[in-house]
Amino acid sequence: MNILILGSGGREHTFAHKIAQSKRCNQLFVAPGNAGTSEIATNVSISVNDFEAIKNCVINNDIGMVIVGPEYPLVNGIADYFLATTELKNIMLIGPSKAGALLEGSKERAKEFMMDHQIPTAAYQSFTKETLKEGKLFLETLNPPFVLKADGLAAGKGVLILNDIDEAKNELEDMLSNSKFGAASSTVVIEEFLDGIELSVFILTDGKNYKILPTAKDYKRIEEGDTGLNTGGMGAISPVPFADDILMKKIEERIVIPTISGLKKENIAYKGFVFIGLINVNKEPFVIEYNVRMGDPETEVVLPRIKSDLVDLFEATFNQELDKTSIEIDERAATTVMLVSGGYPEAYEKGKLILGIEKIQDSIVFHAGTTIKNNKIVTNGGRVLAITSMDLDYKKALKKSYRNIEKLNFDAMNYRKDIGYDLT
Ligand code: AMP
Ligand code: GLY
Repeated sequence: MNILILGSGGREHTFAHKIAQSKRCNQLFVAPGNAGTSEIATNVSISVNDFEAIKNCVINNDIGMVIVGPEYPLVNGIADYFLATTELKNIMLIGPSKAGALLEGSKERAKEFMMDHQIPTAAYQSFTKETLKEGKLFLETLNPPFVLKADGLAAGKGVLILNDIDEAKNELEDMLSNSKFGAASSTVVIEEFLDGIELSVFILTDGKNYKILPTAKDYKRIEEGDTGLNTGGMGAISPVPFADDILMKKIEERIVIPTISGLKKENIAYKGFVFIGLINVNKEPFVIEYNVRMGDPETEVVLPRIKSDLVDLFEATFNQELDKTSIEIDERAATTVMLVSGGYPEAYEKGKLILGIEKIQDSIVFHAGTTIKNNKIVTNGGRVLAITSMDLDYKKALKKSYRNIEKLNFDAMNYRKDIGYDLT
């Protein structure tokens, strides 16, 4: 079968790396892809949101399966578009319907879904420009820190956590009245702050059945000790050492099962990933967000631990036969460390020559923001490379990643040297 992956980051290179190994995969395409995917697949220069161009690509290349990496095409309804298009309706697209993708596309919708299905989450209220005054009064009833979330997609930047009540009121006003995050902040969810340690759980579901994939923990802040600006993610570890059987049982019973049965009850077509962002508060799990795709860089540690053939799993997902499959997991730990461009997550330069990739032996180099210019691999984004390693435990795996990073270089390269620092 010919397969198409949509996206261009480390997540998509990891999918490509896994799928290229499958006996089921004949030709592999990535749109638009990066320098890493071009080594193992054919890059197609089309946007993930250009459904017409994707349709032509699928037809012209006789593609039988499409894996959607990022959230935007899902929130824009790519799964519904495939179902409604005669030539595409039998193509195995992995990704939820637009109604399902709203769990990520609207924080307010996600909160309502959790309330309707008794899924543990932080208490909240949502506000619009018309109810700004009530929003400010609501803030006064809460204890700091104050959590303000833009309702819509804001490229991971739409959540503000503030200690000062006046600052929180000003930011609320900026979001609602001055469109701080554009249309994404025309509704703002204000929620109770949950104090605990974060982890993520990934589910593959066909809308009826589900499989729990390896857990992961990512490191979102740019500076060591989890300080500084939020990024897309600076590194990740799988499995999460504190996600023991007791915690996982609570997560499955209180969160995973009600989420899947909630989707079913609401007749929401969902064939894809659910990425559940959780906070463990005194050993009790609470949902802080749903994403309707895999995480990046979490994918770079989750997929290398899945030994089963991904194409088989995706086919079973599309055919709603996940209950007939089993997933084989590599017991070793996986870690990844992101190398980023100097200045990221603010302004940074592109086009820097990347040196040393050929010297890496016992880690996998997943490309994120890279491209090929004059036959050379150069930087092309804020997050550039993810260095993934596996070993008996995460400390050993991290050592490998850090040792290999010393062989890599590009101008103004930056990375966190403390991934995993908060774990014992
Ligand atoms: P989100 O985009 O919803 O994942 O939020 C971004 C980050 O804000 C999360 O990864 C958490 O670190 C933090 N966060 C979100 N909601 C809460 C909350 N209710 N309490 C504490 N931290 C939160
Ligand atoms: N690493 C966080 C995300 O993919 O949303």
